Amino acid sequence: MADFVNPHAALAPLPEPLSHFARGVELPDPMEAPALRWGIIGAGGIARTFARDVPAYSSGRVVAVAARDQERAQAFAQEYGIERVHDSYEQLVADPQVDAVYVATIHPMHAEHALLAIEAGKPVLVEKAFTMNAAQARRIFDAARERGVFVMEAMWTRHLPHQRVLRQVLANGGLGQIVSAQADHGQYLWHVPRLTDPELGGGALLDLGVYSLSFIQSIAPDARLVSADGVLTDAGVDLANVAVLRAGEALAVARSNFSGRSATAAEVVCERGALELPLQFYRPGVLQLRTFGGENPDGDTVTWDATVPGGFQYEAAEVARCVAAGALESAVMPWADTLAVMELMDEVRERIGVH
Ligand SMILES: NC(=O)c1ccc[n+]([C@@H]2O[C@H](COP(=O)([O-])OP(=O)(O)OC[C@H]3O[C@@H](n4cnc5c(N)ncnc54)[C@H](OP(=O)(O)O)[C@@H]3O)[C@@H](O)[C@H]2O)c1
Repeated sequence: MADFVNPHAALAPLPEPLSHFARGVELPDPMEAPALRWGIIGAGGIARTFARDVPAYSSGRVVAVAARDQERAQAFAQEYGIERVHDSYEQLVADPQVDAVYVATIHPMHAEHALLAIEAGKPVLVEKAFTMNAAQARRIFDAARERGVFVMEAMWTRHLPHQRVLRQVLANGGLGQIVSAQADHGQYLWHVPRLTDPELGGGALLDLGVYSLSFIQSIAPDARLVSADGVLTDAGVDLANVAVLRAGEALAVARSNFSGRSATAAEVVCERGALELPLQFYRPGVLQLRTFGGENPDGDTVTWDATVPGGFQYEAAEVARCVAAGALESAVMPWADTLAVMELMDEVRERIGVH
């Protein structure tokens, strides 16, 4: 522990003029959030990332896990030093040692497992895609409102420092109105069985496109779908999709595919400057600001490198702060935004013929 360097505390300060445009931005340190004891539902791929990163880089601890298969749950607990292994998801949500639940199962199971936690009165963080459709998302939020329980979609990306700075720059308005925006998420993942199986919630949109659409929605909350197209497999899931959106005078494109690895870049162009997340916009990374105008149409660029290890520590810390404050939802990832993105995805699927 003596050698531990808190990566958030070691972040470089914002360079000028980014610090000027982003004035007022809040970048809370995950190590300083109230300590929360997490229980994980599902001992699969993404649960591993959470179990590794949250105790390593935030004040949170993972104290319990439950999986359908006891032996797998035991092995998972041993690997990550988790004290408590439960026979069922029901037992996990009832465990008084668990302060908050992380739903890490595949998306067709999210609604059932989120509702389980809510019924038990446990704050719950639900992996993306939050649910299979907007109707399921509404059911979760209705139940959470009724029971007075905190719920948040695990769109970890929104809590990362570079995206918080980007949104603050836009909110301050120094760059003028948004002219255009784009976000693309392409991964070489077509061989992963759950991604191509319609029964398991397959399709690029629900797994990867949710990042692109959520990014566009985060900077243009009123964005509406103009058109969409997709490439489907014989089984009827989308290998690739593209959505064109409009918010007032701003046009945006959100893309995703799991046939090929793209730069996974995002960009927002405004009247007097552009903000770019040039590589892996959904992970901790680099933010570039290019300011232009007058005699300088090509502009000047400054770069802020906000790369830190992990990333899930930021969303876990947000849950901890909200729960300590008695909030039911997060202002960073509010229910209305999750619902708006789910509705956009319903509409894209309808237009490209994915059912
Ligand atoms: N935030 C991110 O960066 C990120 C990255 C990847 C995935 N995800 C999201 O996380 C979720 C899980 O993805 P993953 O890659 O971790 O999936 P996974 O390893 O294939 O499955 C996760 C868990 O879901 C349960 N499960 C799997 N197949 C099932 C089935 N046929 N019936 C019932 N339950 C089943 C299992 O729970 P048990 O262990 O209890 O058996 C499994 O451990 C997805 O919604 C995905 O979109 C997020």
